[in-house]
Amino acid sequence: MASKVDIDAVLQSLTLQEKITLLAGANFWETVAIPAKGVPSVKATDGPNGTRGSDGNTHAACFPAASSIAATFDTDLARRIGTSLAQEARTKGASWLLAPTVCIHRHPLGGRNFESYSEDPFLTGTLASHMIQGVQSQGVAATIKHFVANEQETDRMTIDETISERALREIYLRAFEIAIKEAKPWAVMTGYNIVNGVHCDSNEWLLTKVLRSDWGWNGLVVSDWGGTNSVAGSLNAGLDLEMPGPAGLRTVSKVLAAIKGGEVSEETINERARTVLELNAKLGAFERQSASSTAERAIDLPEHRALIREAGAKGMVLLKNEKQILPLSKDKVRGKRIALIGFARDALAHGGGSASVNAHYKITPWDALHTALGKSVDFVYAKGAHRERLLPSIGKDNKCGTIVGLDGQPGFTRLWYDPNEPTPVFTVHGCENSTYMPLGSQESLHKILEIVGDFVPVESGSHYLACSGLGATQLFVDDQPVYQQEGNCSDPMGALFQAASEEEVQYDFTANKTYRIRIRTEPAANISLHILEGRSGVRLGFALESDHDADLLGEASRVAANADVAIVFTGHDSQWETEGLDQASFHLPRNGSQDALVAAVASANPNTVVVNSTGVAVAMPWLGQVAAIVQAWFPGQECGNAIADVLTGAVNPEGHLPVSFPKSIEDAPAHGNFPGNYVDGQLKVHYAEGVFVGYRHYDRLTRDKVNFPFGHGLSYTSFQLSDLQVSKQSDNTYTIKVSLSNTGGLVGGTVIQAYAGNSMRSHENPIKSLVAYRKVRLQPGEKQTVELPVSTRDLSYFDTEGQRWVVQHGTYQFSLGFSSADISQVASVEIEKQIVYTL
Ligand code: BGC
Repeated sequence: MASKVDIDAVLQSLTLQEKITLLAGANFWETVAIPAKGVPSVKATDGPNGTRGSDGNTHAACFPAASSIAATFDTDLARRIGTSLAQEARTKGASWLLAPTVCIHRHPLGGRNFESYSEDPFLTGTLASHMIQGVQSQGVAATIKHFVANEQETDRMTIDETISERALREIYLRAFEIAIKEAKPWAVMTGYNIVNGVHCDSNEWLLTKVLRSDWGWNGLVVSDWGGTNSVAGSLNAGLDLEMPGPAGLRTVSKVLAAIKGGEVSEETINERARTVLELNAKLGAFERQSASSTAERAIDLPEHRALIREAGAKGMVLLKNEKQILPLSKDKVRGKRIALIGFARDALAHGGGSASVNAHYKITPWDALHTALGKSVDFVYAKGAHRERLLPSIGKDNKCGTIVGLDGQPGFTRLWYDPNEPTPVFTVHGCENSTYMPLGSQESLHKILEIVGDFVPVESGSHYLACSGLGATQLFVDDQPVYQQEGNCSDPMGALFQAASEEEVQYDFTANKTYRIRIRTEPAANISLHILEGRSGVRLGFALESDHDADLLGEASRVAANADVAIVFTGHDSQWETEGLDQASFHLPRNGSQDALVAAVASANPNTVVVNSTGVAVAMPWLGQVAAIVQAWFPGQECGNAIADVLTGAVNPEGHLPVSFPKSIEDAPAHGNFPGNYVDGQLKVHYAEGVFVGYRHYDRLTRDKVNFPFGHGLSYTSFQLSDLQVSKQSDNTYTIKVSLSNTGGLVGGTVIQAYAGNSMRSHENPIKSLVAYRKVRLQPGEKQTVELPVSTRDLSYFDTEGQRWVVQHGTYQFSLGFSSADISQVASVEIEKQIVYTL
């Protein structure tokens, strides 16, 4: 919506103090309003695959995570998801979405890879561009993040990265550059990390030179939450807004002192305040005047359900399918027994952290396959492996017993106290589980929290409990102290995302007896993670002794041996793959249990299929033993249905890998330089692999180091490329023309991938890079000629010394295929004279 407000006039009406107050948030999600001057506030919400609202408690549609969307190679789908996310943001009273995340999958252990698209900047940038266009078509701001090179979670607020400018420009900045130039997001969020000696929020080179000058972008730069590191430095560098509020570093007094000391000019304050006002104007907030206090609603729309199922299924990658064991169509499996093992009764819908979503509902593969194949199949189940990072919370998903709160109704009661006061300030009944994380809530600041419930276990036994709090915490059973944590937790970042390790204790419970469980936790004081200061949060996990100590592997082997087909559901739940922590291992958790499970099932049953739900590549030591593998990613709330659609053939798989799947972690390009090394207590990392990220690295290796290459993906039909022609359209564009035939017997889709590289091999340049791609769907026997435009700029490298993009003269090879390693059509073009693009 084009706003009619005169920003100059508003700016002039503000006092210096008022302008300064605009430069930090009012609270956790909202900007500051100045009602007397007609300045409204706007509200932001996370995130890339669903809108969490202010505390993540309101249900929301959970969309596939970005790596799943990337696997679709489908720009139209990315745009439709963007549009839907914007509609969802409105239901949370927000007009400002904190997404997409476009950091590069530099290493398979990156904790947040799942919420980013790919190892390739072209795929990342083009998909993000369409997603942003979808979001902003609804008048909601998109925020591309985290600018830049936020590729690891270990020490994420302080990690000091050394990256060559060439690698930055060609890989890490490039994804941003494509999306920013094409889709013009209204906001950019800075990374927590340090790039080449300077924190991103205070990095003038990044925020002023690259973003605003080189790329000509003019939106709002916001810090990551708690990621403002300096007062004058960040203002001068180009950071408009400190979040969250209230101001931490940018208090009026500190900014006034910086102005007085000559460190910041009033002109800079005007510029920053202007940008904040401009965002308000773009969001139509001046006209609405009330962006903030709209209640958060959970609106479960059938069209969002359908889109999520469609997208989730289209993102599934069929990695392997021997003897055409898949699809398990109704006719093929009628009267058979199918063992569903592992995470079959769980819904691995999303990763953890600010991209996790309290979904309207989640469909498990167990339920979806029953619906899809009905009574004609005998399904049997085995859990198969101990794979939890932490014991699950007591609550609706942990079937260990019942809980009744102080109101006599199901659920826990939360009570909030002012320190030293005997009566609670406020009380909430009916809470779903024994866990509380405090980030969205202002009223709980500096309060002591008690979580209380009457627990009736289903079994007698010496059951397991595990508890942790942000601040000092005690756990009581029937008023007996069972566990005590003195002082703050030792891993605040892990605790924030409910994945810090916890000590387990045992307690004797008798079935059907009532036990009062009470957890008391104090607000964190002087905690190293500033955004947790004064906040209370706690987790209580519980496991029945019988579950905790069971021989799951033996049972799974027996179940598999007695079935016609065994499907093992492997993966990471949101405590293993989460913001705040990098993955603990390249091997599926925990301690090899899932690898052992797949191997045991495969040796018990030759018809073993693996469905793996992770946002990243994982080790597959059992690869040769299983008949088929589907890489499912985190497909959102319809995960079970999307998986069932592909397994049964209701959807012909058409996803392709947006990342390489190395055989071993030692072969990954960043191996040895992830997450870095400590020097005098400071973690430092050198991006020593330079531009050789992902397939740009594996392409150069002589032996085959990947289980599956970038771009790989099978179908239940087959495709062939022919008749490649590449022609020059203008000085800046080439056109690729190629024919695609569906040579199999089923309707299906594939991704035509076009790579290009200078045929003069050099150790400085990748052999080839993705320059165009297109998802095409064909009927059996159908042939289609497809045209793909290629920008000549995408053939260039970054000349650091000359500060320009250069296409060297010479012969360029265009390689077309269905993966980076499956190239069937090659054509060359001559570039006679060097071409230069200025910044
Ligand atoms: C994350 C951001 C997120 C913000 C607000 C930070 O911890 O890095 O991606 O948007 O929190 O939740």
